[in-house]
Amino acid sequence: MSLLEQIDKDRLPQHIAVIMDGNGRWAKEQGKLRVFGHQNGVRAVRDTVEGAVEAGISFLTLYAFSTENWNRPKFEVTALMELLVSTINKETKTLMDNEVRLNAIGNLSALPAKCYQQLQEAIKKTSGNRKCTLTLALSYSSRWEIVEAARKLGEQIKLGILDPKDISEEMFSTQLTTGGMPDPELMIRTSGEHRISNYLLYQLAYSELYFTQKLWPDFRREDLFEAIIDYQKRERRFGMTSEQVKN
Ligand code: FPP
Repeated sequence: MSLLEQIDKDRLPQHIAVIMDGNGRWAKEQGKLRVFGHQNGVRAVRDTVEGAVEAGISFLTLYAFSTENWNRPKFEVTALMELLVSTINKETKTLMDNEVRLNAIGNLSALPAKCYQQLQEAIKKTSGNRKCTLTLALSYSSRWEIVEAARKLGEQIKLGILDPKDISEEMFSTQLTTGGMPDPELMIRTSGEHRISNYLLYQLAYSELYFTQKLWPDFRREDLFEAIIDYQKRERRFGMTSEQVKN
């Protein structure tokens, strides 16, 4: 049985979040510049998106550029931004063919104008697609988004249109950049690192975490399928006992 066939379609995670890590190490292993790793990471992005559609995943969120990544050498930041623009351009057709809607979260106003414009065009063009929502976290950090949400709520309280008593966990989550999406049930990180790195801290509260040694440029749809199969073997208890969950 293929890995895809081993996936139980009735118990799919609705939302998978990924930290794509290891591009730099992958390039270094080949004696190349870090940027070569990012360029080869694009193939892994395409294969993972196609695999997510094949498996029936409704939401896929990829950490493409963190707020902290702005501190990398200028050459690498410029190359990554150019790669994002060219990839968005080239891959819009793949997104259309697979009925994938593109979305982006993060402090998008910090992106170079060209990158922002290409992104908005692709988001608009793919907005009618319904099979899967691909969200790119760009210039994103979770603490930034939580502070932004708190600030927005504070403004509404100041204007007298919100009573602090009406702030609940559900209501707070609608103020986050992922408002309207289910929380990820599964979070995958490549390259053997075991960290969350300021990614979706509020949303990952009950997520199953899956770590693989594979470096991102080597990640393929079969690796995604393996992660889903592993997720389906786990018991999600949400703080309850195993007996309670089974009953
Ligand atoms: C982490 O590897 C990867 C990134 C910071 C960038 C991810 C970008 C891509 C995969 C390029 C294309 C993406 C899209 C969505 C079009 P790292 O550089 O931190 O690797 P290291 O830990 O080995 O140094």
